[in-house]
Amino acid sequence: MIRLALRVAEADAELVLAELLELAPSGVEERRLEDGAIEYAVYGAAGELPSLPALQAAAGGRLVEITTTDVADDWDQQWKAFHKPVRIENGGRALRVRPPWEARVAGQDEADLVIDPGQAFGTGAHATTRLCLELLLALDPADSCVDIGCGSGVLAIAATKLGWLDVLALDYEAESVEATLTNAAANEVTLRAQHFDLRSGNAAPGAELVLANLLLPLLVELSAVGFAAPEPQTVIASGLLVEQADEVSESFAAKHGLVEADRRISGEWAALLLVRGS
Ligand SMILES: C[S@@+](CC[C@H](N)C(=O)[O-])C[C@H]1O[C@@H](n2cnc3c(N)ncnc32)[C@H](O)[C@@H]1O
Repeated sequence: MIRLALRVAEADAELVLAELLELAPSGVEERRLEDGAIEYAVYGAAGELPSLPALQAAAGGRLVEITTTDVADDWDQQWKAFHKPVRIENGGRALRVRPPWEARVAGQDEADLVIDPGQAFGTGAHATTRLCLELLLALDPADSCVDIGCGSGVLAIAATKLGWLDVLALDYEAESVEATLTNAAANEVTLRAQHFDLRSGNAAPGAELVLANLLLPLLVELSAVGFAAPEPQTVIASGLLVEQADEVSESFAAKHGLVEADRRISGEWAALLLVRGS
C-alpha cells in the first residue's frame, strides 16, 4: 500500500482540494503540518493512484511537494483512527454518521448512519457533505428525492432515514452505485441506486427534492441539462467554493425558477438551498 501525499500552502488548500477531488472522488486525507502547510494524501496500491503528472496539473503552480511512502502494515489502524463519527444538527433534528467500527451511542436520539469510508466519497466528514446534511435536516420530508453524484450514498441514506420516500441515488461510477446499495443494506433502508452520467446531455431524473453535492462544472451542467418531470421543488447544491456560489444560485433561479433560500458556509465551501419561487 502506498501513501501519496501532496503539500500546498494553506491559502491554496481549498482550491487544490477542489481539483484533487476530481482525481480522487473517494476522498482525501487532510493534515495540517507544523509549518502551517496543508498535506492531502490518498492511499492505494501502485497503479491505482492518480498519476504524478495528473496531480501536478491539479495543483498547478500551488504545489509545494509530492511524496510517496510505503505504508506500514498497520495502515488500516491509522485509517480507522482518521475516520471519526460526525454529528450534524439543524432545525431541531440531528444525525450522526459513523464508520462501522465505531459503536452506536447508547440512548442516541439522533438518526444513526453507518458509512464505510473505504468505498466511495462521502463519509460525512467533508464540509461539502456536512453542509448538505445540515440543509437536509431542516426540510420536512416529502414523497420523492434524487441524490445526483451519490458517492457512498450518505445523502440518500440520510434522506431515507429522515423520512423521505422513493429515494433514488445516481452516480456515473459503478463503484459508487455499488457502495450506495451496500451502505443502504448496512443501514437497513430501502432506496434505488442507478448509473447516471450528468455529462451524457440527458435531463437528470427529477424529484421533489434534488441533492447535488457536485463541483461547480457539474452543477453548471445540471442547471443546463435540467430535470425530467417532476421538476424539483427544492435543490440542495453543494461542492462549491464560496466565490462560485453566486453563479450557481443565479443560474438555477434564471433557468428553473429555484431561488436561494439559505446559504451555508464552512471554510472555503458553500452550499445552497434553492426553492421554487411562488
Ligand atoms: C463530491 S462527491 C459527493 C458524494 C456524496 N453525495 C456526498 O455528499 O458526500 C461527487 C460525486 O459525484 C460523482 N460524479 C462525478 N461526475 C459525475 C457525472 N458526470 N455524473 C454523475 N455523477 C458524477 C462522483 O463519482 C462522486 O461520487
